[in-house]
Amino acid sequence: MESIYGLVVFIHVICASILALTLIIMQLVIGPALERLTDGEQKQAAASLIQGRWHPVVDVVIVLLTLTALYLLVAQWRLIGTTPILHIKVTCGIITLICVNALHFYFRGFKRKLKADGKIDRLKDITRLTRLMEKTALIFGPLTFLLGVFFNHSPF
Ligand code: HEM
Repeated sequence: MESIYGLVVFIHVICASILALTLIIMQLVIGPALERLTDGEQKQAAASLIQGRWHPVVDVVIVLLTLTALYLLVAQWRLIGTTPILHIKVTCGIITLICVNALHFYFRGFKRKLKADGKIDRLKDITRLTRLMEKTALIFGPLTFLLGVFFNHSPF
């Protein structure tokens, strides 16, 4: 049982590291760089490359992080309830997971459908909402990561 717990924490930390880094690099570096490209074939090719190669990896990371987080929530329910720093970390983690799951597994397809149907006004409204969710994940994801590391490895 202990080795299963260790394996779950191991997967949790690897997925957390990938997600936190992805949120930062995608939103602060690659996204703004893509926006600076003028519309055309090259911009389309760059966007397709990210969608084809990186999105599937992030999807798997999000699923694994969500599953391991749910396991840890149940396994450490009492500890989470009695340790303030872990309590705050888990609250931030839940906000992050709701945002990234909704963005990757609901809004991505929904926006594609709106675009295909030509519902541009609705697409603009939804894009405003997804931008807000992206920024929320950008803040709460790395914060959750740091709180997790602080909880386990802080010298204080
Ligand atoms: C429902 C959401 C979550 C729950 C219930 C949860 C629960 C936990 C628990 C109980 C631990 C301590 C494990 C141990 O040391 O025995 C932990 C560690 C950790 N979690 Fe989470 N987590 C959640 C979401 C997240 C998210 C979204 C991230 C990052 C984006 C994250 C990053 C980490 C990190 C970095 C550690 C520290 C591991 C270490 O350095 O030893 N967690 N989590």
